[in-house]
Amino acid sequence: METMDGRVAVVTGAASGIGKALAFAFANEGAKVVLADVEAEALESTQLEMQALGTPVLAVPTDVTDANSVEALCEATLEEFGGVNILCNNAGVGGGGLVKNQQLVDWKWVIDVSLWGVIHGLHHFLPHLLEAEESHVMSTASVAGLMAVPGLAPYNAAKFGVVAIMETLHHEMARDGGAKLGVSVLCPGVVRTNIATAQRNRPDHLRRQRGELGSVSAKAPEEARSRNAAIAAALENGMDPEEVASKVVSAMYEEQFWILSHPELLDEVNHRNQQLANLENPTLISSFTD
Ligand SMILES: NC(=O)c1ccc[n+]([C@@H]2O[C@H](COP(=O)([O-])OP(=O)(O)OC[C@H]3O[C@@H](n4cnc5c(N)ncnc54)[C@H](O)[C@@H]3O)[C@@H](O)[C@H]2O)c1
Repeated sequence: METMDGRVAVVTGAASGIGKALAFAFANEGAKVVLADVEAEALESTQLEMQALGTPVLAVPTDVTDANSVEALCEATLEEFGGVNILCNNAGVGGGGLVKNQQLVDWKWVIDVSLWGVIHGLHHFLPHLLEAEESHVMSTASVAGLMAVPGLAPYNAAKFGVVAIMETLHHEMARDGGAKLGVSVLCPGVVRTNIATAQRNRPDHLRRQRGELGSVSAKAPEEARSRNAAIAAALENGMDPEEVASKVVSAMYEEQFWILSHPELLDEVNHRNQQLANLENPTLISSFTD
């Protein structure tokens, strides 16, 4: 993109963490901002903070797992601002646990938000982004979309899916020859956000079920609890979301597809790719080994 000044930017998961930082980064560049989130109170307070800066802002309570809700977000955006230039499919949730201990509701919740949320965003917004004079779509995946982190299978599945969709879209736009829609995928490492408490937004009908799939308790098993505690501790020392957002803004200006907050994690990705090239069975070189 050449400029964000006066452009319209839609961010999902905008009431917290990376999404909130993205929304403020776009506002700093002069964009009009549409905040979308399922958490009504946090959404409203984010809107008030942004209004105080004088940014034209619209907040739309949105559940990205629901196609109708994302369609309504798109309609509200067009009605308020007349078009859309930037879409960040950023809302995502995750939680730890070994594959053998996952319940179907664990898979469903994580994949509904983190993968279907992106699909719904693309489905409803792409026609309008393609009509715009200049536009860019970015989806938030993770390094877990580039390597299979043990204990995070539903999250890995969703994030590999997000990377695949965005890479496909990038190829399709490049083949169209000079298509004006920029495409990026954000693959963050550990960032200091509220993702460790993602369960706060888990719908009741997708909470863990007693007795399903070998799990005797509706609570997460001990291994999942200790994994989640370790993730929460790591997040405390993670990168500031504002730093990630600033990398995203630069990448959009520079038409950069891959956005990595922690490029050093590519060592693990390169190791995986090399093993694949050699048809060797996968191993990990990092500490994600238990
Ligand atoms: N924090 C990290 O270390 C990290 C690392 C890699 C990737 N990510 C990804 O970054 C993205 C943002 O997460 P974050 O770390 O800022 O977490 P966060 O919990 O601080 O923010 C996520 C936001 O998404 C919203 N959300 C949850 N379910 C939703 C739904 N159904 N519809 C609409 N909004 C919903 C939440 O209310 C919250 O405001 C996610 O896609 C996450 O997977 C985060």
